[in-house]
Amino acid sequence: MDQYIHGYEAEEQKRLAQLNDLLNHRCLTKMRLEKGQKVLDVGSGLGMFSRMMADAVGPSGMVVGIEKSEEQLTQASQWSSGIDHLQFRQGDAYSLPLERKEVGFYDVTHTRFLLEHVRTPLQVVRELFRATKPGGRILLLDDDHLRFTLYPELPAFDSIWSAYLGSYEVLGNDPYVGRKLVGLLADVGCGRIHNDFVFFGSNAREPEFHFYVQNLCAIIEQARPVILSHELLEEALLDQGLKALQNWQMHPHATIWYQICWAEGIKPE
Ligand SMILES: C[S@@+](CC[C@H](N)C(=O)[O-])C[C@H]1O[C@@H](n2cnc3c(N)ncnc32)[C@H](O)[C@@H]1O
Repeated sequence: MDQYIHGYEAEEQKRLAQLNDLLNHRCLTKMRLEKGQKVLDVGSGLGMFSRMMADAVGPSGMVVGIEKSEEQLTQASQWSSGIDHLQFRQGDAYSLPLERKEVGFYDVTHTRFLLEHVRTPLQVVRELFRATKPGGRILLLDDDHLRFTLYPELPAFDSIWSAYLGSYEVLGNDPYVGRKLVGLLADVGCGRIHNDFVFFGSNAREPEFHFYVQNLCAIIEQARPVILSHELLEEALLDQGLKALQNWQMHPHATIWYQICWAEGIKPE
């Protein structure tokens, strides 16, 4: 059974919504969607990004979001109300709830920030491949948590970051799945594959910088119980590191560099 480390509390849903605001335009531009396209978004979460995709493909296209959590689906329903070409469905990414006519049907299948939370990412990518039409595109976007740099360096936070990565591993999940996206697409049978990054960083001179720091604190807080129960870091060091991060963000040169991995494969005709 996979364990989803971020949970579904109201605070977490607020964090995901803010994350969407900062990231969605960059991701949508990279997706190069066209009017009339049919898109499947797996692990659609709050559905904000699926809604943007639906706007991009227009009423002649369609977007279907698949999500396992009822809490997320309840939030997502606000985006689809009154929009016929956007639909959310409850289902498991390991075995997508597709009707027979949807097999090999979608122009674009997409998943973002899901593969890092599942034990068997290959099975999820196989399911995306199954849903994609011949010649269609499979888009994977996910984290490689080592593509993360704080400057000026903050050693007190480095040990927290290592413990955070350890929390993925003890749950059987993969904090480095981003670097493996091309391999996953190759293993399911994609022909041409392209890889790239989406930038997700900021610095103390940008107005949204505080959100990036808050986001960091929030994901660490969510992992706190796992970090402590598996003795990945002592609580006092965790608290000290978080406090150091709060002080660090006041530094006039404070900068976060982070890159999200992107890979795009074509299903052979
Ligand atoms: C970090 S959120 C990302 C949401 C959205 N893709 C985004 O980028 O904003 C991951 C989502 O995947 C969902 N999820 C986790 N395991 C799943 C599975 N096996 N099948 C379907 N959804 C799953 C979680 O419930 C959560 O909503």
